[in-house]
Amino acid sequence: MTQKVALVTGGTGGIGTAICQSLVKSGYRVVAGYNRGGDHEQARAWQATQREQGFEIDISYGDVTDFRSCAICIADVKEKTRSNISVLVNNAGITRDTQFKKMDQDDWRDVITTNLDSVYNMTRQVINDMITDGYGRIVNISSVNGQKGQFGQTNYSAAKAGLHGFTKALAQEVARKGVTVNTLSPGYVLTPMVAKIAPEIQQKIIEGIPVGRMGSVDEIAAAVAYLTSPDSGYITGSNLAINGGQHMY
Ligand code: CAA
Ligand code: NAP
Repeated sequence: MTQKVALVTGGTGGIGTAICQSLVKSGYRVVAGYNRGGDHEQARAWQATQREQGFEIDISYGDVTDFRSCAICIADVKEKTRSNISVLVNNAGITRDTQFKKMDQDDWRDVITTNLDSVYNMTRQVINDMITDGYGRIVNISSVNGQKGQFGQTNYSAAKAGLHGFTKALAQEVARKGVTVNTLSPGYVLTPMVAKIAPEIQQKIIEGIPVGRMGSVDEIAAAVAYLTSPDSGYITGSNLAINGGQHMY
């Protein structure tokens, strides 16, 4: 049987790297989407490090904010793998935290475009192949802060909440075509994104997490592995919270 292909956007980032590794372990041919401000050398260095650790992962450049760039990325993945994409993990994201009273238009637009428009830009490129193939797994990486809202994150909370609306609508459209669409809402995980938060604020956040710590990238990746497995065909339109109890509903 030919290996199914999985594409992870933001695949060379903190959580993305763990997702890529976990999907390799699950038997997929994995492609990490990267941007790196166009620094292809950095992405190749990431790939070499993965190889040293025993993970064979392809890389493909794309700017998730740009529909045309996403089309080129998908064409590149299909050419490299000679296959359609069966698993898409929409994981790329950014933050531009500030109180709304001080938020400028670029902070708003950049976050909405990178976290929400991106999901249209990538998913639109693969959905028809998945429908034709009668199989697909789409996982959208949202956030606990899309579920509960967060001080300083009107832009990010709006984008991440929007993701789950997208998930629920698309899940209904493709449910009978063998394609599942789910949201995963991680809590705080110490990656470069969270490292930007001032240490005293990080400490306060941890105090509010019942489990008493941040999550690990591997804990998030394990949940992605489950939602992308062939066995998860009856889970669609769900929003899986993985946040150490920080937000329960
Ligand atoms: N609730 C109420 N008030 C708060 C507050 C909170 N949670 N946090 C800060 N404040 C208040 C302070 O007490 C202070 O009040 P005073 O002015 O009355 O003293 C004021 O807000 C701070 O004002 P600043 O001008 O310093 O704040 P700012 O507009 O520059 O923004 C901030 C501060 C950058 C938002 C900072 O509070 C912060 O980093 N908060 C954490 C945001 C966060 O959790 N981001 C997550 C990033 S990682 C991620 O997003 C991944 C994921 O999905 C989990
Ligand atoms: P990260 O290490 O900063 O990774 C973010 C990734 O997004 C990077 O690989 C980055 O790619 C990519 N990206 C950003 N802009 C892009 C663009 N325009 N085009 C293509 N790729 C772009 O942060 P992370 O914590 O792993 O975050 C991964 C996802 O998890 C994000 O969606 C984030 O919102 C979500 N999340 C994180 C946490 C957490 O606590 N860490 C919690 C909940 C949800 P390049 O580096 O190649 O530019």
